[in-house]
Amino acid sequence: MATKTKFQAIRGTRDLLPPETALWNRVEQTAHEVFGTFGFGEIRPPIFELTDLFSRSVGAETDIVDKEMYTFRDNPDGNTGLEDRHDDLRRSYERHAGRDEESLYLASVHNFVNDIRRKLEAREIVSNPALEMSLRNLKKSLADYDSSEFRPDLKPALRKQVLMSEIRLQVESFSFGEEISLRPEATASVCRAYIENNMQQLPQPVKLYYMGPMFRRERPQKGRYRQFYQIGAEVLGGSDAPAIDAEVIEMVMTFFDRLELQGVQLDINSIGHSADNCRRAYVEKLKAALENVKDKLGPDSQRRIETNPLRVLDSKLESEQGIIATLPRIADHLCEDCATHYAAVKHQLEMRGVIYRENWRLVRGLDYYMRTTFEITAQGLGSQNAVCGGGRYDGLVELLGGPPTKGIGFAIGEDRLILSLQESGKAPAQQGRDVYIAWMGERAHATAIRAAKDLRKAGFSVELPPVEQKFGKALGQADKLGAKYALILGDNEVSEGLWTLKTLADGSQAKFTEPDLLVHLKKQL
Ligand code: HAM
Repeated sequence: MATKTKFQAIRGTRDLLPPETALWNRVEQTAHEVFGTFGFGEIRPPIFELTDLFSRSVGAETDIVDKEMYTFRDNPDGNTGLEDRHDDLRRSYERHAGRDEESLYLASVHNFVNDIRRKLEAREIVSNPALEMSLRNLKKSLADYDSSEFRPDLKPALRKQVLMSEIRLQVESFSFGEEISLRPEATASVCRAYIENNMQQLPQPVKLYYMGPMFRRERPQKGRYRQFYQIGAEVLGGSDAPAIDAEVIEMVMTFFDRLELQGVQLDINSIGHSADNCRRAYVEKLKAALENVKDKLGPDSQRRIETNPLRVLDSKLESEQGIIATLPRIADHLCEDCATHYAAVKHQLEMRGVIYRENWRLVRGLDYYMRTTFEITAQGLGSQNAVCGGGRYDGLVELLGGPPTKGIGFAIGEDRLILSLQESGKAPAQQGRDVYIAWMGERAHATAIRAAKDLRKAGFSVELPPVEQKFGKALGQADKLGAKYALILGDNEVSEGLWTLKTLADGSQAKFTEPDLLVHLKKQL
């Protein structure tokens, strides 16, 4: 007998259920509407991409790519049988080794290599640099094994032993297919799509938005999940005019305003120009200042001095706050172009009536940003209170192999947005049914089915019980479902052609012909 397993959603994931999903729909509908008025069109990129796309754009050293991605190997060519052969080969070493059966093992290795070569030539599998290197190394070791030129200083038995273990390691190192990750964010995908679909041919800039699940293996807590949802937007191509930065921010603020999100606080900063311009000089200064106070910092910040000194500014550690306050500030080190751009963004925000706070410590946790960065917090979220993050990323499309392209965008954490709306009582109450049809008798059932069809066509939400119920029980059920009306259909109603409508809030009843009933309900609801 099968044992009873109680399945549970994976840690950090959850079911979104009614009535909450009605709020999700309202939020998403509002995004479609507001973003549409700013001329944005929806893009739906895939949920998984090559791991490399994320390591190159988000950055291999970032927490997101370094520790939080859900990564797996996938063979784009389907099952070629090579993975199984590879597994067999690894097991065969265990079987043959130490039993003077090396020649059997080596024959299998030779066969394996020849098979891969054949499949590559027949284009049954795609080549990749790692596979080519594994093949080259393995072929060399196999050739060494058969000749006496490798390490002539060693005795033949030891020589073979050394080569055998090398061959074994090389067999281990083979891997087929591509490394793929569930997307931890979508900016990289949108840039990839921009390049792949030649969107630089379209009128610039191209304005796109997306919504959907993202995946990060973070420690789950309130407002932090492993599958979470983002609503994001990106502007690609055209110029880097500060008015674009300001309009993107204005759009997200308009969206929050429309939803009546409470306690909205917009923080902005400029982190300068990447790599060879003002940022590099600033990072050098920051690093030097951090080295001086290194022993007063916690282990995370100490590590970041080497890997990503800007991220130290992000630290929430109480003990580090006093030290961070003394560090050099990027605003004092921006080059002239970046300083002018930043000043213009602020001016453009003011022209739009967008209220902001400057926050020199806002650096963001993804590598692709430059110049404008921003973050929005909202009420009722505890420590995970960032409900939106974004910024400019002018070099990213080029980094991914596309033409030089300007870019800016943001992503809203939809889970947190919903949480905040719920906490401030902005969530809609449970939607009850409009009409519960209480029917009794076969003839009434046929009429009830027809009535349900007509009412639903007119847009009412209708509950039609599948089996006959006593009227008393039916009315109780209607009440539990929060129905506004009960339509009572028994033999009398059907023969008279007059239907009884009961208003559940006050218990009043009235009789209507079928057409009158529709007119009456349309007026009431
Ligand atoms: P991000 O700051 O990594 O930026 O994420 C944006 C927002 O997603 C966060 O502010 C937060 O609300 C939400 N979020 C992130 N991780 C989680 C999680 N584990 N659970 C719940 N919510 C989460 C980006 O993703 C960039 N792609 C934004 C962007 C678009 N920049 C330019 N364009």
